[in-house]
Amino acid sequence: MVICRAKNYNELSRKAANMICAQVIMKPDCVLGLATGSSPIGVYKQLVKWYKKGDLDFSQVSSVNLDEYKGIGPQDKQSYRYFMETNLFQHINIDKSHTFVPDGLEPNSTEACEKYDEIIGTLGGIDLQLLGLGHNGHIGFNEPAPVFSCGTNCVDLAPSTIEANKRFFAAEADVPRQAYTMGIGSIMKAKKIVVVVSGEDKASILDKVINGPVTPEVPASILQLHRDVVIVADEDALSLVPDAG
Ligand code: F6R
Repeated sequence: MVICRAKNYNELSRKAANMICAQVIMKPDCVLGLATGSSPIGVYKQLVKWYKKGDLDFSQVSSVNLDEYKGIGPQDKQSYRYFMETNLFQHINIDKSHTFVPDGLEPNSTEACEKYDEIIGTLGGIDLQLLGLGHNGHIGFNEPAPVFSCGTNCVDLAPSTIEANKRFFAAEADVPRQAYTMGIGSIMKAKKIVVVVSGEDKASILDKVINGPVTPEVPASILQLHRDVVIVADEDALSLVPDAG
């Protein structure tokens, strides 16, 4: 695990964006695994800036997103497809038909999950996976559980995740209770993983992810076993890991 320490959110966003930038330049037809949530917004802003400057070309890139709420469609402002469109896809020259997000409107969970695994397989796997970190250690929507998930699965969101995500909805009751998420197994198969973590509220879980035992009760702890993972975190998030990075 490489820890990359940044002074603040802006610096961490630039550093992580640089890593994605390098990936796209080195392999123009790469497959990017993408995340939503607050953490990667700065990374996407930076990538858009560099694209507009003419430094980046996404025309051959494909993307697969980590997750989507079940029961929510692409036009819904709370959907992760909508998030990706407004924060990144609309502003760059990626081919929309090469961007994938689990189908939240597919009511049959088995079908939705199998279809998504097939898509990831057809793309040939993920070159670089961008991740955020949940307060309970989740990655994608893989919540703490007795075992690590393998492929795409339908999860019941943990109460702490519903609480954390209610800020994006009018009321807590509106937060969907289930989501489709790429499995831990698929995430671990990515060739490179970049995790962005910001803020003091993530310090305790980040310490567990870096220094704690590998356990499905802290899903992100499995990243300790990946051969090419970089955690890009700011001082606040690394406040309990003072010697790292
Ligand atoms: C989002 C995702 C989640 C978030 C995590 C952190 O696609 O997969 O695992 O990365 O919940 O969210 P933020 O960045 O909002 O703190």
